[in-house]
Amino acid sequence: MQNSRSTKLFQQALQSIPGGVNSPVRAFRSVGSDPLFIKKAAGPRIYDEDGNAFIDYVGSWGPMILGHCHPQVVAAIKAAVDNGASFGAPTELEITLAEMVIDAVPSIEMVRMVSSGTEATMSAIRLARGYTGRDNILKFSGCYHGHSDALLVKAGSGAATFGVPDSPGVPADLAKHTLTAIYNDLDSVRALVAANKGSIACIIVEPVAGNMGTVPPKEGFLEGLRSICSEEGIVLIFDEVMSGFRVAYGGVQELYGVTPDMTTLGKIIGGGLPVGAFGGKKEIMSLLSPAGGVYQAGTLSGNPLAMTAGIETLKLLKQPGFYQKLEEKSAFVAEGIAKAAKDAGFPIYSTRVGSMFCAFFSKDPVYDWDSAAKCDTKAFAAYFKAMLNEGIYLAPSQFETAFVGISHSTEDLEQTIAAAAKCFKAL
Ligand SMILES: Cc1ncc(COP(=O)(O)O)c(C=O)c1O
Repeated sequence: MQNSRSTKLFQQALQSIPGGVNSPVRAFRSVGSDPLFIKKAAGPRIYDEDGNAFIDYVGSWGPMILGHCHPQVVAAIKAAVDNGASFGAPTELEITLAEMVIDAVPSIEMVRMVSSGTEATMSAIRLARGYTGRDNILKFSGCYHGHSDALLVKAGSGAATFGVPDSPGVPADLAKHTLTAIYNDLDSVRALVAANKGSIACIIVEPVAGNMGTVPPKEGFLEGLRSICSEEGIVLIFDEVMSGFRVAYGGVQELYGVTPDMTTLGKIIGGGLPVGAFGGKKEIMSLLSPAGGVYQAGTLSGNPLAMTAGIETLKLLKQPGFYQKLEEKSAFVAEGIAKAAKDAGFPIYSTRVGSMFCAFFSKDPVYDWDSAAKCDTKAFAAYFKAMLNEGIYLAPSQFETAFVGISHSTEDLEQTIAAAAKCFKAL
């Protein structure tokens, strides 16, 4: 669907913003079209500059678990802004959100707020290196942890979508400290740990991967990582920037019962405003400046508007039955789409953990980056465009996760399944 005003704005944006967008995956390049420019959103719907409405499964790439513009969150932000947008000095709001996060997330005894997920993972890694006195880190191919140099190696979605697994501008001297194992393959981890004995500071993992599509951990994978890290003195970091407060209030670590040493958060804890956080054991977090020597700082860290949006969001998530209701909605739509594909004789591999789901255009199971990369991305692009025509806004890449929010109504979900049935038949 091409919209005149969106098209015009994109042409204008190309003159002043590289690629016309402020984050690459927004550009729709991997599905071969131009992005829609969004004017506003409400509940489960976003509206483009031409007045078209779409049922939204991107949810600002995860934060909008309540739907857009939840009245309680909006009112709290409006009230907060009257007190000042930023002070660069501590506020009580920061303590409130820190205590809510500590209360919710099993591994977190202390937490530091930052302004993005990238900052959270970058800082967590510096701290793990400072704590262990080791230089190497281990990540998994297909997992994305933000765009800091050390982590932009075999980094899933955005990078994978553009076929740039290692970005120009990342010094080889730095990238050589990033070891890459295969997701869901403990043997690949054991081999790297054995070959680099005593030199690995941390293992960082998306405990439910969401940046190569949605890939759940196989049984025993997270437990295996926990044992390896405990045996080898390696800091285990769960990157729950996407999954935190998403798959359960306490994230993957609550759902799967495996506790890492450190956790990174973002997205939902900012309620749509820019926030990230990293936390973990007191013993590790106490090394952070100014308590300890590992430096980390931020002009807007703990911003009062962002803290307010996060606090109000978490209060609403904590209401009894919230995650059960979200689970039912998510199962309904993910299973409905999978059935629609099957009925149309179109092979997909469907995955879901809580309100994160993905329809892989593959007849074979997807459990790591190599199996994800075999998907039929051309067919996905055709499906994406057809769904957009039907008023359904999916992420413009096969290697992304779809997010269900509590404001998606049964009618919205039924409309989505009906649209998918039509689109699969037409492929
Ligand atoms: C798992 C994970 N970690 C880190 C990040 C980076 O967060 P941000 O985009 O806020 O820098 C993302 C972003 O999508 C993510 O999904």
